[in-house]
Amino acid sequence: MSTDAVRFVTACRVCGSRRWQEVVSFGSVPLANGFVDAAEADAPEEAYPLEAVSCRECRLLSLTAVVDPHLLYRTYSYVTSDSETMARHMRTVVELCGERAALAGGGLVVELGSNTGDQLLYFREAGARVLGVDPARNLARVAEDRGVPTLPDYFDSATAREIAATHGKASLILGRHVFAHIDDVADVLAGARELLADHGLFTIEVPYAVDLVERLAFDTIYHEHLSYFLISTLDRLFARHGLRTVDVERLAVHGGSVLVSAGRADGPWRTHDRVRDLIAGERAAGYLSDGVYQEFGARVRRTCAELTRLVRGLVADGHRVAGYGASAKGTTLLNLCGLGPGELEFCTDTTPQKQGRLTPGTHVPVLAPQDVRRPPDYYLLLAWNYAEEIMRKETAFLEAGGGFIVPVPEPTVRTGAVAAR
Ligand code: TYD
Ligand code: ZN
Repeated sequence: MSTDAVRFVTACRVCGSRRWQEVVSFGSVPLANGFVDAAEADAPEEAYPLEAVSCRECRLLSLTAVVDPHLLYRTYSYVTSDSETMARHMRTVVELCGERAALAGGGLVVELGSNTGDQLLYFREAGARVLGVDPARNLARVAEDRGVPTLPDYFDSATAREIAATHGKASLILGRHVFAHIDDVADVLAGARELLADHGLFTIEVPYAVDLVERLAFDTIYHEHLSYFLISTLDRLFARHGLRTVDVERLAVHGGSVLVSAGRADGPWRTHDRVRDLIAGERAAGYLSDGVYQEFGARVRRTCAELTRLVRGLVADGHRVAGYGASAKGTTLLNLCGLGPGELEFCTDTTPQKQGRLTPGTHVPVLAPQDVRRPPDYYLLLAWNYAEEIMRKETAFLEAGGGFIVPVPEPTVRTGAVAAR
């Protein structure tokens, strides 16, 4: 690991405190989306420390190591999943946001990390003007080809000023599963505040730290995800940057997320009771003190050992096991649990950019679903956030006696009989 590729966090990016509680330490792990070309299988692979800590002042859950974003995002193999679950979710986001921000009249929606433009296409359908911002040039180009104007850039205060000057102020600035990837949140919030119209909303969708802990979604901890937020933490962060939390919705995507909106503190918006209730709930459930995080760490280690035992047991009994969905969280899971080609014959995935390559660190070959000649006896469900959709799609596999190993919150095997209920 070259030292300038990583910055180690000292002060909390939300509150500035340096008082941290250790939560989990996963050792050195390669980048979650760093799929390896088969020809490079023998070349040494870069790995970076993966460790989460909790700020004792504001309870931000943060990684200790920030990998240089140029390494993470220059060409990016993460493509928004072409799934029913995601399509439905994106329509819900348009409904939720459209209700609040007046978009149908041609209001401007700016999306950070707009990927291939899927979400913005839904907004355009609803009558909004749209502009994407995404530093992955390969993806920005795809979005442009689909008719979604996209700046191939990081969103920061400079980009925000440029957008305001050329496109006007925004009714909605949206960042779905991108805000938690940002180290310098202060500069992004300064930019958002400047670009927002008076009545505009800055809306982010981030994994909810409470869901992460409750559902033991430890595999969603990887280098891209620098922050895991409570609503209390976000509220404090927004206030520090001249924004007021307006509303929050809990959503099922990515193992439990929140869609949180904030307006300018000097604007017309007031805080909804839902926000206060969630903040009170976090305090009552102990999320503002050490105990919850300590216990989380212990549960992670237990679950991982259990999963490894289960998979190795199946293999030892002569069963064939493969991975389903070469997700980014699969990288954490496989590396952490020490599962690789010895246990998994292959890993199937619908993303063309991943097919024909090897999973990061563990080198399980990724196959297109249509290239799977003999389905295994068990699939380890690495894309468990799509469990229901995948089980529906794979009824033939289940009916033929196949099973799915769902790794979290505790390893369970689901077979045809269970899925059909
Ligand atoms: P994704 O949910 O995007 O999560 P992460 O952020 O952890 O990468 O990953 C899901 C992966 O699973 C993605 O690579 C696409 C793949 N996938 C399939 O192979 N088949 C499916 O039916 C679905 C829904 C996803
Ligand atoms: Zn803090």
